[in-house]
Amino acid sequence: MAIRSIARGCGAYLPERIVTNAELAAKVDTTDEWIQARTGIKQRHIAADGQLTSDLAVHAANRAMEMAGVEGKDIDLIVLATATPDHTFPSTATTVQAAIGMRGGAAFDVQAVCSGFIFALATADNFIKAGQCKRALVIGAETFSRILDWEDRTTCVLFGDGAGAIVLEASEGEGPDAQGILSTHLHSDGRFKEMLYVDGGPSATQTVGHLRMQGREVFKHAVTNLSNVVLEALEANGLEADAIDWLVPHQANQRIISGAARKLKMDTAKVVTTVSSHANTSAASVPLALNVAVQDGRIKSGDLLLLEAMGGGFTWGASLLRW
Ligand code: ACO
Repeated sequence: MAIRSIARGCGAYLPERIVTNAELAAKVDTTDEWIQARTGIKQRHIAADGQLTSDLAVHAANRAMEMAGVEGKDIDLIVLATATPDHTFPSTATTVQAAIGMRGGAAFDVQAVCSGFIFALATADNFIKAGQCKRALVIGAETFSRILDWEDRTTCVLFGDGAGAIVLEASEGEGPDAQGILSTHLHSDGRFKEMLYVDGGPSATQTVGHLRMQGREVFKHAVTNLSNVVLEALEANGLEADAIDWLVPHQANQRIISGAARKLKMDTAKVVTTVSSHANTSAASVPLALNVAVQDGRIKSGDLLLLEAMGGGFTWGASLLRW
């Protein structure tokens, strides 16, 4: 029997402070109507001064470990996805490692912007399948509020802060009916850098920089790439779209989510959406959405989930996971 990564628990954390569209409209030339009509976003959570990406990640990790019934000492791998690390180095993952009392194993960050959680999940899954670890914490955590140009209405209205995590454990299983990660599918294409990037960084400018985006172009690529990678995941497992119990997409924009669901002919009732209340939290968005649907009882043990995301790079990916 093959080794498979089973999800034992999930958890999430959102900063307390909520910023509504109306509050943003008082600062930049925008309206609640425009933001809702173009994106579906009503509000976002923003980290408090001094509250770091690792702080959000530790809360999410502790909640995921509590659900899984494990402690820091039981974890032997942390893969943390973020584009907004606490510092240039060390990794945010090692800060989380110390905070949760994990003394052995390895912890590192991965960077695939909004697709980060899928990339982190694939990395941890492959470590588990290779027999290199037994229990992994996979985290997506971001403080995008720190890299936004708050005077640029075309970007600052779209993002929020937050963190989500899941605990994976090595088990045995085969075929699409057994619990765990069925497959992961990752892609990137570096030719599209200019469409979505941050105009700073340690090597380029010695500053953190601000997010820049050609929104309309990103939108077009997102719907196409996401539909393709979802079909790739289904085909790899010999499944049709109607086998999916829940689509848990990256929460960038309601129109991107609906566009991808339409292409798959998926009933919108089977799509988990949190973009209206979380906005786009980049690498945190998929585990945040997953956690909402697990906590409210929609996602049940044995359900087949399709997770997908697309982000700067471009990067995109998907994973089929039987919960
Ligand atoms: N409030 C009011 N007006 C605005 C705002 C705003 N916040 N932002 C832009 N506008 C204006 C523009 O200036 C433009 O005005 P003009 O016609 O006078 O020039 C008009 O609205 C239309 O702008 P577009 O950019 O064409 O609007 P569009 O319908 O494409 O919506 C949006 C913009 C929401 C950014 C959309 O393109 C989008 O969602 N793209 C995907 C981007 C994304 O989600 N990126 C996240 C990272 S990647 C990922 O996660 C998939």
